[in-house]
Amino acid sequence: MGLYQHQTAVGPVSSGPCNRGENRERAREDEDRPEFGVGSGTAVEFESNPSGKRDRGFDCLDVPMAVRAAARSLSSNLRKRMSAPAAALLHSHATSFGFKEVREEDKSQMVGDVFTKVASNYDLMNDLMSAGLHRLWKDRLVSKLHPFPGMSHLDVAGGTGDIAFRILEDINNLRRRALQDANDDNLPDETRIYVCDINPNMLTVGKKRAIARGFGDNKSLVWVEGDAEALKFESASMDGYTIAFGIRNVTHIEKVLDEAYRVLKRGGRFLCLELSHVDIPIFKDIYDFYSFSVIPSMGEFVSGDRESYQYLVESIRRFPPQEKFASMIADAGFQMVEYENLVGGVVAIHSGLKL
Ligand SMILES: C[S@@+](CC[C@H](N)C(=O)[O-])C[C@H]1O[C@@H](n2cnc3c(N)ncnc32)[C@H](O)[C@@H]1O
Repeated sequence: MGLYQHQTAVGPVSSGPCNRGENRERAREDEDRPEFGVGSGTAVEFESNPSGKRDRGFDCLDVPMAVRAAARSLSSNLRKRMSAPAAALLHSHATSFGFKEVREEDKSQMVGDVFTKVASNYDLMNDLMSAGLHRLWKDRLVSKLHPFPGMSHLDVAGGTGDIAFRILEDINNLRRRALQDANDDNLPDETRIYVCDINPNMLTVGKKRAIARGFGDNKSLVWVEGDAEALKFESASMDGYTIAFGIRNVTHIEKVLDEAYRVLKRGGRFLCLELSHVDIPIFKDIYDFYSFSVIPSMGEFVSGDRESYQYLVESIRRFPPQEKFASMIADAGFQMVEYENLVGGVVAIHSGLKL
């Protein structure tokens, strides 16, 4: 059982008093082990399964033998392909770009190229790849944030604005309700939701979507081009920080976490939604098959771009497993670190508080 288990019935499990040095040491020890792939996750329960029993739904599926065999062989090939680069990543100034090993200084540009290419079809592809589920996952993330009127919030790697729109909609609903109940129109109007992204093309699509949603003139929504690893925001200036499907793409995850900690006020909440690791036999095989065989083909069909979607699925496998990522969040200084797996770990929501 891992350190940072999510238990719906019992509530959050704290990381305990945080010793940043000790935690960093532990993280370094962890790095010496190949982390990617099967067996490195934790025994977390499903959100939709409060009974605490493992979901047995997939035991009953009549999956054709050929597909299962193909999925298994794909899975075993993936493990082989990932173990060598994992060791190679220990070399200095090297990092992963999907399954490729690249120079650290090149990664940001390569990721930038991916998102420049996918920007125009980004939202459509999200719907297709996740069968619309990404909308529910984002709703869940924002519900954990508990947005409030007057807050300053930073959504990093905010892309085309999905998270920021949800936060603003929640705050607008709260304001409307408060106005009805209290007949009080003196509610603070200082709300600022910053959408920060390194890629101007993603932000351009986001601004157009904001106009289409009636947020065009909304002073509370601020679009900022910037790097998650070196934020232009003042220390202790934000009530909340979110990053959705973004941290997987950065070169130095630790720097992003340190920056998140820096910009948050005491009491501020860090929330991260990310594609994560499935550790359930058979489901994992099917998920691998879907990821590596279906998604790149879908990308090619919809946007004529197979490579970007190949990077996408490879980058998921390269991202630290849930438990390891939770320890990295604690290393950055956050308290009450916990995570919640959704759809058996296809995605996970990690959270922490700056106290
Ligand atoms: C998969 S998209 C996620 C967009 C949005 N958060 C969502 O959930 O739909 C990843 C985003 O991360 C951005 N990104 C990648 N590296 C970044 C960095 N170092 N700093 C800020 N944004 C970055 C990309 O430009 C892209 O818009």
